[in-house]
Formats: sequence, C-alpha cells, structure tokens
Amino acid sequence: MTIKTELQATIAELAAHGKGILAADESHPTMAKRFKAINVEATEDSRQQYRSLLLTTPGLGEFISGVILFEETLNQHNTDGRPLPEVAAAQGIVPGIKVDKGTLPLPNAFGDLITQGLDGLSERLTDYKNRGARFAKWREVYTITANNPTRLGIDSNAEVLARYAATCQALGLVPIVEPEVLLDGNHTIDRCKAVTEAVQTAVFQALHRHGVELEYILLKPNMVVSGKDCTEKAGAEEIAEKTLHQLRRSVPAAVPAIVFLSGGQTPEEATVNLNAINQLKQNAPWELSFSYGRALQQPVLQAWQGNRANAVAAQNALYKRAKLNAAARYGQYSPDMESPG
Ligand code: 13P
Repeated sequence: MTIKTELQATIAELAAHGKGILAADESHPTMAKRFKAINVEATEDSRQQYRSLLLTTPGLGEFISGVILFEETLNQHNTDGRPLPEVAAAQGIVPGIKVDKGTLPLPNAFGDLITQGLDGLSERLTDYKNRGARFAKWREVYTITANNPTRLGIDSNAEVLARYAATCQALGLVPIVEPEVLLDGNHTIDRCKAVTEAVQTAVFQALHRHGVELEYILLKPNMVVSGKDCTEKAGAEEIAEKTLHQLRRSVPAAVPAIVFLSGGQTPEEATVNLNAINQLKQNAPWELSFSYGRALQQPVLQAWQGNRANAVAAQNALYKRAKLNAAARYGQYSPDMESPG
C-alpha cells in the first residue's frame, strides 16, 4: 500500500458519516485530576482498568470511528491478553495516539505557550505505528487575554503544528491538527471568533507552506463560544452561526472533516451545540463531527467510581453519550433523548 492510499483509507474510516472520535489521551497529571474527582488513585493499573472499560463498551463502534490514546495505553493489554489498540480495532475503531509533549511558555511572547515534542518525532511515530496507531494528534493552546495570543504566538504555534502534520503524513499517519483557543476568561463570543479566525488562518498558511495535503488531515478546533466568565453567554444558535461563519472564512474545502473538542463544555452543551451546528450547516463542505474527551467521559467516570461492579453502568453511559453525539452529527438530537429508557 502506498502512503497515500494508507492515508486515504484511514481518513475514510475516521470521517465516516454519523460517527465521531473518542479522546482518551489524557496525560498522567490530567488523568490523576479526573480520578481524584471520584476518589480513585491514578496508577498504571487503574488507568488500564478504566481505559479497557471504555474500549470494550459493547457496540461503541456504531458511533465512534477512532480513539485517541495516550502512549501508556498503546502498551497496555485487556484482561484477555489482547493489546488495547487491538481491542479498539476489533470494534471497528481506529486507534490513534497523542504525540505532543505538552506546553512551555513561548519566550518573548508573554502569556503565550508553545507545544514541545518535535525532536525525535519521526522515530516515535514509527514506533507508535508499529504498535497499531494509524493517526496522531497534536494540540496547541491559545489563551485569550487583552494581549494574547500575540502575533508571535499565533505564527510560532502554526509553524509547529504544520511541521508535526507534515511529519505524520510522510510516515502514513493521519494528523489531527488541534489549535485550541481556550474557554478560560471573560471575553465575548465575538472576541473568541476573531481570535479563532486568526489562529486557523495562520495554521492553514503554515500547512500550505509545509506542503501538507489537506485531504488527509482532520482539524480539531474549539467551537466559537463566550469565555467561561463572560457575563453574556451566547446560546447554541449564536454559537452555531458564529462557528460556521468563522470556519467558512478559515478552513479550505479540501479538509474532509472538522472534529470539535469539547474544551470544558458540559456533556449536554457539547451535544446541543454540535447539533445546532449541523442543523445550520447548509452546504458546508466538511463533515462536522466531534472528538470529545470530557464531554464523552464525564458521565462514565461518575457512573464508574473506580468500582468494577459499576462497569456496565459506566459503559452504558459512554454508549449513550456517543449515540447522542452521533445523532447531533445529523442535527437529529433533541433534549428528550437524554431521559433514560
Ligand atoms: P476535551 O473534549 O475534553 O476538550 O478533550 C479533547 C482533547 O483531545 C483535548 O486535547
């Protein structure tokens, strides 16, 4: 198989109509935070148990096309001895891997961050691919303040994302390009829209500079929303309208799918907003889907509580959220679908 046919096959599976992506790639500190909220100690064992539970959810492949794993999970096994990436693949879920190494302050761009991990990336990707990963994810973050992100921050982050994406494609892995404008702050939805447009425009310029083939990437952006502490919160319809307006200005039609992150929205909000976007999308050229972490997993953690006896309830919670978000992919979600039974 040539690299191109390999990328094409992975994209076709990942962007399948009616499905979305499960982000289960929390770093150790993030996982410790999520577990602490339910009084579970984060150990290699507890993380293995929890992530096995996610990946063995019966029927998950009906609504989930891909799963983003953390490096540790790539090496872990289910109780039946199968490697976890194989468990995902057996459900029809493409395994992928988070490959960035987190952020540090960007010198001379006060308040902005830059993601680490380009050194040795090719070698790591080759190794991950040998262990079953078919796509990779890299996240850059942008905080909104009166002065951030700076021009230097926007351009440097775009350059790093493009170098990562080009490296992935050269090795036959589909890159998920994630420029996340954070929800934190008291900014208005219009400020979020302007920043998101500037960020994505710079990202696509950099992708073009680096010869990245847009047909073989997925974009994982934030939705355009009001800041967490903004006094005037925009509703779903305004979010949908402004998100689509911004995306039309920034994202070339060659990109097959846009898979939103949830970024601190509640599970219900993330579903309602995705639904509103799909209801309003008209002739938008891309699939508009999800790649949620918290918005898919929060109810699962609540149901699980670190107790094996709750495994079925936890899996039911994941199945339900995946199903509701899949309905939102068609604009066919309604809040009464939230009620049990
Ligand atoms: P959230 O949906 O919780 O934002 O996580 C998605 C993700 O992969 C962040 O990098």
